Amino acid sequence: MKNFTSTNDTEDIPGLIQEAIQLKANPHQSNVGQNKTLGLIFFNPSLRTRLSMQKAADNLGMNVIVMNVDKDGWKIEFEEGTIMDGEGQEHVKDAVRVISGYVDVLGVRTFPELKNREEDYSEKVLQQFLNYSEVPVISLESATLHPLQSLADLVTMEEYKIRSPKVVLSWAPHPKALPQSVPNSFLQWVKRTEANIVLACPAGYELAGEFMEGIPVVHDQKEAFDQADFIYAKNWSSYHDYGRSLPVEEDWTITIDKMKLTRQGKFMHCLPIRRNVVATDDVIDHSIVYQQAKNRECAAQAVLKRILESHG
Ligand code: CP
Repeated sequence: MKNFTSTNDTEDIPGLIQEAIQLKANPHQSNVGQNKTLGLIFFNPSLRTRLSMQKAADNLGMNVIVMNVDKDGWKIEFEEGTIMDGEGQEHVKDAVRVISGYVDVLGVRTFPELKNREEDYSEKVLQQFLNYSEVPVISLESATLHPLQSLADLVTMEEYKIRSPKVVLSWAPHPKALPQSVPNSFLQWVKRTEANIVLACPAGYELAGEFMEGIPVVHDQKEAFDQADFIYAKNWSSYHDYGRSLPVEEDWTITIDKMKLTRQGKFMHCLPIRRNVVATDDVIDHSIVYQQAKNRECAAQAVLKRILESHG
């Protein structure tokens, strides 16, 4: 594996899932990371991604360097060829070349600004890390995708061993406009499995065509939940009316009564979650969200291991 930014970086998704499951059972089976360093660069906050990557790297014998570049570094300039007489103090091409000289694998987290769709979907920040890094790059969530989360989600579903499960990705309310990265990525990854995926969202919240292709869309949440094995809840802002939270008349909060429509369906969410907004306390307290969060560790470890093995 050269880099890890989307499903395009691995042809062997079933093998990667199985490797993650084996690493979960025996996390110290490989020291392929000995004398290697992982750099983690955060432009945005994180709890799970940051800690699970550190733990995964430690399990493989790696050293880890972490930097909250937005708080602790110079203000980064991303525009090519610009005259840097404004806020930007260090150009991304200089920063990435320097960082990649200190590390063997480089992870980066960045969020979209949700103002300009073309700019966000061009993955300007991640792309510059890919362009200028001299070592493999792992996306710790980008403007439009969150592949490590999706791999952990597939590992979690695989642990239930349900053949061809019905999986519903359901929009849910939130007080702030959020990125589309988790739902985009979830659809991209689940489409590569035998699961039957349905997207449930209010009209106007359909995702980008490249992710929606071949996916049934249901605007009635209760209808979508019928006989589902997994309910994956997430809020996202509108793709078509880009970055906006559109008014929604019905109540899309996930409740125990809605979960009763499923086939003893398991409730999933990437976390962090706004309790009693996205889903009620009783739904979250009887869910598999902590199993999902735990699986971030073995998913990250499988990815790191494959990258290290590919690069000697
Ligand atoms: N799910 C997830 O990526 O969590 P963090 O934002 O806390 O890393």
